Amino acid sequence: MLRTVSRLSRRRIRSRLGTLRVKYSGLSGSYAISVGAGLIDSIGERLRSILSARTRRVALISNRKVYGLFGAQLESGLKHSGWEVPTWLLGDGERHKSLASFERALRFFSEHGLERTDCVVSLGGGVVGDLAGFAAATYLRGVAFVQVPTTLLSQIDSSIGGKVGVNSEFGKNLIGAFHHPRAVFIDTDTLLTLPRRELVAGWCEAIKQGAIGSRPLFKRTVKYLETFGLLNSCGASAELEQLIAAQCAFKSGIVARDEREDPNRVDAKSRRILNFGHTVGHALETATDYRRFRHGEAVGIGMLVAGEIGKRLGITPQAELKSLHAAVKLLGRLPRTDDVEPAHVMSLLQRDKKSVDGSINWILLDRLGLANIVDGKDIPPGIVKGSIRSVLASC
Ligand code: NAD
Ligand code: GLY
Repeated sequence: MLRTVSRLSRRRIRSRLGTLRVKYSGLSGSYAISVGAGLIDSIGERLRSILSARTRRVALISNRKVYGLFGAQLESGLKHSGWEVPTWLLGDGERHKSLASFERALRFFSEHGLERTDCVVSLGGGVVGDLAGFAAATYLRGVAFVQVPTTLLSQIDSSIGGKVGVNSEFGKNLIGAFHHPRAVFIDTDTLLTLPRRELVAGWCEAIKQGAIGSRPLFKRTVKYLETFGLLNSCGASAELEQLIAAQCAFKSGIVARDEREDPNRVDAKSRRILNFGHTVGHALETATDYRRFRHGEAVGIGMLVAGEIGKRLGITPQAELKSLHAAVKLLGRLPRTDDVEPAHVMSLLQRDKKSVDGSINWILLDRLGLANIVDGKDIPPGIVKGSIRSVLASC
């Protein structure tokens, strides 16, 4: 279902709200994450003080759907700032986050004579952002990159932290780089056109971020969902804007402390905790040929499995797991899982890229707001299988 908001109420929302800024500050430098309704109109102007005075071209990467919604606005602001704006539209969907698209992006940069002082801007969800960022990271050994995320998931998660990359025959996201953006511009108005399932996927990641690292953030996310549902019916609201900024602050705080996801770290603040729910989530996506779940939806179910494993190990209190279930339930029914074979999921887990030394590192919960990384070797396989079986049968 697409949501719309009248021009008048949009203007009211805009004038009521300022722009929130979250600063990312890590070893590789810092950048501002700006959050506000109607921000797209002013990105061209805002970028003038961020990009080099020698920048001549700002290459825009988007897809047809998102470009059709917001491309003209963004492009005209960039042109108004005096830059050439060559534009390239990627196909829509996960399968286009590929090496073939990556090569096409590089060819596009070359054909338009992009130089080291030029910049790449991505307009879209995580697929566009990951692909455009990887192309920017590698072209001429790295050109400036700016993210304009337009899905909830990309606004609170994938646009922050510098992970960029593509899928390949070796697996999902296995080819990539760390390349931080120079700036992230989050226009909350873009969420008004986002399909319901994409909102659900984003909210799953929002619940995840609270669950692994901040009880107040978890509670605030649940409160928003209880009060407004997936999106305030009056459109993007001040509450949503503030919540997105809080989610961004959380993610950037985790990344700043562990920029490159040190494989030796197993503490509760390591970047790896962001993979909560992803172990089983990826297996579910693979088991269903990437056709059934949005990535965030699969993570939602994966979180419940990790919660169940934690409970069966005596790590996660029953009441905390109940609160996690209640939070996920606020999102409505997730795609069915009762026909997915637990043994198939178990076999796919063995191939998970999050395994170190051949063993999976499970992100579990000591409680809501505190993650616990547990070596898979220390978990009896029966507990994993039993937990998968019980959650899959109930969803
Ligand atoms: P997506 O990019 O596929 O976007 C979802 C759908 O929404 C697409 O059809 C898109 O065209 C459409 N869309 C985007 N914005 C819209 C808008 N405002 N209105 C209407 N439709 C809109 O999916 P996603 O969930 O944003 O991102 C998933 C990707 O992000 C995956 O590839 C995942 O691996 C990656 N990811 C990366 C990181 C990271 O740290 N780099 C973190 C999490 C996920
Ligand atoms: N989304 C996982 C990470 O950024 O590390």
